[in-house]
Amino acid sequence: FNIPKPVNEPVLNYGPRSVERAALKAALQEGRAQQIDIPMYIGGQEVRTGKTGTVRPPHDHQHVLATYHIGDESHVHAAINAALAAKANWEALAWEERAAIFLKAADLLSGPYRAKINAATMLGQSKNAYQAEIDAACEMVDFLRFNVSYMAEIYAQQPPVSPKGIWNRVEQRPLEGFVFAITPFNFTAIAGNLPASAAMMGNVVVWKPNDTQVYAANVLMQVFIEAGVPAGVINLIYVDGPMAGDIIFSHPDFAGVHFTGSTPVFQNIWKTIGTNIHKYKTYPRIVGETGGKDFVLAHPSANVEVATTALVRGAFEYQGQKCSAASRAYLPKSLWPAIKTGLLNDLGELKMGPVEDFENFVNAVIDEKSFDKLARYIDQAHQNSAVEVIAGGKYDKSKGWFIEPTVLVTTDPQYVTMREELFGPVLTIYVYEDADFDKVLNLIDQTSIYALTGCIIAQDRYAIAQASHALRNAAGNFYVNDKPTGAVVGQQPFGGARGSGTNDKAGSMINLLRWVSPRTIKETF
Ligand code: NAD
Ligand code: ALA
Repeated sequence: FNIPKPVNEPVLNYGPRSVERAALKAALQEGRAQQIDIPMYIGGQEVRTGKTGTVRPPHDHQHVLATYHIGDESHVHAAINAALAAKANWEALAWEERAAIFLKAADLLSGPYRAKINAATMLGQSKNAYQAEIDAACEMVDFLRFNVSYMAEIYAQQPPVSPKGIWNRVEQRPLEGFVFAITPFNFTAIAGNLPASAAMMGNVVVWKPNDTQVYAANVLMQVFIEAGVPAGVINLIYVDGPMAGDIIFSHPDFAGVHFTGSTPVFQNIWKTIGTNIHKYKTYPRIVGETGGKDFVLAHPSANVEVATTALVRGAFEYQGQKCSAASRAYLPKSLWPAIKTGLLNDLGELKMGPVEDFENFVNAVIDEKSFDKLARYIDQAHQNSAVEVIAGGKYDKSKGWFIEPTVLVTTDPQYVTMREELFGPVLTIYVYEDADFDKVLNLIDQTSIYALTGCIIAQDRYAIAQASHALRNAAGNFYVNDKPTGAVVGQQPFGGARGSGTNDKAGSMINLLRWVSPRTIKETF
C-alpha cells in the first residue's frame, strides 16, 4: 500500500473570465436561490428536531440561506452512544482503509465539491473567494492528504530494539472512548480537520461546530459520508456548547477534546475536565488551539513595502477574523511616515461589500455580537486622548455586519487594543524610538499573554536573530519578512503556546500522535 507523497493543493486564481469563477458564481447563485434544511447527523441518520435556527449571510443578514435543526440533551447522548457503537468496527479496520476514505474526501473537495464548499464558506462566513479558496478548498485538502501521510509514518515507525529471544513492539491504539471535536466559526478547514484527524487515527467523534459555521459544516459532512466514513464514526450535532460540555465532560468514556476557539472557553473546558477527572476511565487528551494577539514588528532596517503589505494583509484579510491576524504593530519612528503613507494608500484602495462581488476585499464580520463588540472598542478609541484613529473608524449594520478596516495609533503600548483579542478589522500601532528596539523586544515579550504568531520585518541580519531569540516564547509561528498569517499545511506547522493553546501543531505528526495511545508489547520466545 503506497501513500502518495502529498503536494500542496494548488490555489486557483478566480480571474474574471476563468472557468473556476464561473463555477463558483453558479454555486453562489444556487446557494442563494435555495433555502436548504440542514439536519444533524447521528449514527448515520439525518436527525431533524423541528426546533430550528437560521443561517444568514453576515453581509446580508435579512436573507435566509438555510434552516438547521437544533438538538437538546437527548441528541448529545444519542451522538455519544452512536459513536461508541461504531467504535469496535472502526478500530478493527486496517489503517490503510481509513486512509483511503480520507484521501477520497480530499479528492472530492479538490474536485466535484470545490465550488460548493467555497460558496458555502463565502455565504455562511462572509469570506471572499480568495480567502475561501485558501481555507475551504486548499487547506482542508492539505490537512487530509498530509495527515494521511503522517499517519502512514506513525504506523511505519521503527520498532524498539529486540534482543535475541524477545520481540518488542509498540502498537498505536485509538483512545479508549470517544473524542469531542469543538470547532470555531472562522475556518472551514479547521472545522473539517478537527473531527477528521481524530477519526483517521481510529477514533470515534462527536463534532459540534459553532452555530455560525453550520452551513459549511453540512457540506463537509456530506463529503465525509460520500467518501465512506461509516455511520457513527463522526456525529455532527448542533447544540448549545455549555449544555453539550456538561454532558460530555462528565461521561466516563470521554477520551479527548480537540478544540479550536477562544481562550476563555478553552480554559473553562479545562477546568471542567479537571473537576471531573475522577469520572473518566482514562486521562483525556486535551488539545486546544485558542486566541491570539499577533504582532508585526518592524526594525529600522525594514523594507517599507514589505512592512506595509504585512500590515494590510496580516490585519485585514478575512476582516481580521483569524487567530493569526496582525492586530498590534510596533514600528520605528524613522520609517513611520513612509509606512503610514503606504498603509493609507493601500487601505484607500480596498473595497468593502458583499462576497458575491469579487472586487470586495473586505466583507462583513461574523455576527451582531462581534459587530457590537468591535463598535464599542472603536467608540472608545475615538474618545481616548492617547489614541488617534488614522483610518476607518466607521461601521454600518443596516444590511450586513460591516466594520471599516480601522487603524489606531496609540502612545500607550499597554492600551487595551494592544493587549486584548478583538477578532476583527482593527489594527493598533505603537511607534517607537529607533534607539529603543531592545526595549520593544522586551515589551512585546512581556505583553504577549497570547503567543500564537508574530513577525519581524528587517533587512539587518543581527536584528532578525536578536528578535527571533528574544521573542522565542512570544509566538508559536514566527515569520521573518512576511505577514504573520497564512500558514500552509506541510510547510509551517501551526499553533501557539501561552494563552494561545497547547501548541500541538495542526496538520502535523505531533497532533496526530495525540489521538493514539501506544501499547508496548514484549513477547519472549
Ligand atoms: P468560541 O470560543 O466562541 O467558540 C468555539 C466553540 O466552542 C463553538 O463551537 C462554541 O459553541 C463552543 N463552546 C462554547 N462554550 C462551550 C462549552 N462550555 N463546552 C463546549 N463547547 C463550547 O470561538 P469562535 O468565536 O467560534 O472562534 C474564534 C476564536 O477561535 C478566536 O479566539 C480565535 O483566536 C480562535 N481560533 C484559534 C485558532 C488557533 O489555531 N489558535 C484558529 C482559529 C480560531
Ligand atoms: N492557519 C491559519 C493562518 O496561519 C490560521 O492564518
